[in-house]
Amino acid sequence: MAEDPGKRAIVFGASGGIGGAVTAQLRQSGDYEVLAGSRSGSGDFHFDLTDESSIARSAQQVGSGKPIDFVFIATGLLHRDDGISPEKSWRALDATNMSEVFAVNAVGPTLVAKHFLPLLRRDRRAVFAALSARVGSIADNRLGGWHSYRASKAALNMLMKTFAIELSRRNPQSIVTALHPGTVDTGLSRPFQRSVGAAGLFAPEECAAALLKVTAGLKPEDSGGLFGWDGVPIPF
Ligand SMILES: NC(=O)c1ccc[n+]([C@@H]2O[C@H](COP(=O)([O-])OP(=O)(O)OC[C@H]3O[C@@H](n4cnc5c(N)ncnc54)[C@H](OP(=O)(O)O)[C@@H]3O)[C@@H](O)[C@H]2O)c1
Repeated sequence: MAEDPGKRAIVFGASGGIGGAVTAQLRQSGDYEVLAGSRSGSGDFHFDLTDESSIARSAQQVGSGKPIDFVFIATGLLHRDDGISPEKSWRALDATNMSEVFAVNAVGPTLVAKHFLPLLRRDRRAVFAALSARVGSIADNRLGGWHSYRASKAALNMLMKTFAIELSRRNPQSIVTALHPGTVDTGLSRPFQRSVGAAGLFAPEECAAALLKVTAGLKPEDSGGLFGWDGVPIPF
């Protein structure tokens, strides 16, 4: 179902595989005025999740004028060239790396919420969505490993649930949701794709289409949940 015209969407992480595809599809739909931000690369605004002042500045930059209908946070960190990689055992845990993974995956989206939830529309449906991961589900953890990433996404899921409760008092039509995108062919998953196989791997465009369908279909009573790319709720 097409969204009403005249709406405003903000994407965080447009330089990423999924964030880029979500931005392109929102623009293509013509349903939204889309403002897309990233840390690196071009964008309508720039921010670093580890620098709250850059998020506050972004809110001032894009928040003036019309209220926002849709915020989509597509940022995240699993591995990085400076030595961050998912742990196979507790022996690999490193406080600095763990803190950085939490800063990007849990604290960063929280700061976006702090500065952007107040800018959401209060008089009709408004959606605040962030990419999480199924591995952040405590109930679903059967394999172990990936301690920092899993725990940071579990924290994100809890924070989103908490925001959902708080925001519903301001706007009963609001929806706050965490999303699991599936395994998607991006830089984030590339070193870990072998276990999935080509059949289980989404192109970023397929993933973006699926996630936008899910967010378009969510109802206020779904707020606070974690949903898969197929729209199925995932237990915390
Ligand atoms: N791909 C998958 O299979 C998969 C599976 C489950 C969950 N997810 C989740 O989906 C989300 C998007 O992943 P992706 O696959 O699209 O990864 P990606 O292509 O690596 O994109 C990650 C994005 O996060 C941004 N980012 C990282 N650190 C940042 C910081 N400090 N400040 C601002 N932006 C920062 C990156 O910006 P720069 O370009 O500036 O680095 C980039 O835009 C993540 O939350 C990930 O955990 C992905």
